[in-house]
Amino acid sequence: MAHAIEIALFLHLLSVAVWVGGMVFAHFCLRPALEDLSPQLRLPLIESVFSRFFNWVGIAVIVILLTGGFLLMQFGGAHATWQLHAMAGLGVVMMLIFGHIRFAVFPRIRRAVQAQKWPDGARAVGTVRRLVIVNLVLGVVTIGVAVMSRGI
Ligand code: HEM
Repeated sequence: MAHAIEIALFLHLLSVAVWVGGMVFAHFCLRPALEDLSPQLRLPLIESVFSRFFNWVGIAVIVILLTGGFLLMQFGGAHATWQLHAMAGLGVVMMLIFGHIRFAVFPRIRRAVQAQKWPDGARAVGTVRRLVIVNLVLGVVTIGVAVMSRGI
């Protein structure tokens, strides 16, 4: 147990890197590179990429919740600093947005690809794009708040 806090922080930050880094890659690298492809090529590819990425984010979210909860207990629980409570609050909002993307919007992309309804699929991808931008901004703010918890 001697290194439990370090191990938890390591896993916490690794998961944050996977989640936030994946969103940066998807938004700034993958999306513009696919822009000129026809919907018939683009949407099945996006569906296939998202289904893999969302599995990774699902694991990251579980690890962030478990390690974050553990760390919060170690850093005072209800008496922890406001920055840590803000991190937890923002983190939960990000997780709810991810849950909405994964369980409400992504199935629409999947159904549209199966039925070859490309305009429906493109609309759903647009919704994912907007929600990912929101989560990306929240993720960066959360990292900033987390660093401020060091008393900067
Ligand atoms: C349920 C959600 C979360 C809880 C309860 C939580 C809790 C914690 C706690 C207690 C620490 C240790 C602070 C310290 O070492 O002084 C920590 C570290 C950190 N967390 Fe979170 N966290 C959550 C979600 C997130 C999310 C979503 C992000 C980023 C997108 C994030 C980014 C960080 C960073 C960058 C650190 C390192 C801060 C540092 O050591 O300077 N956390 N978290």
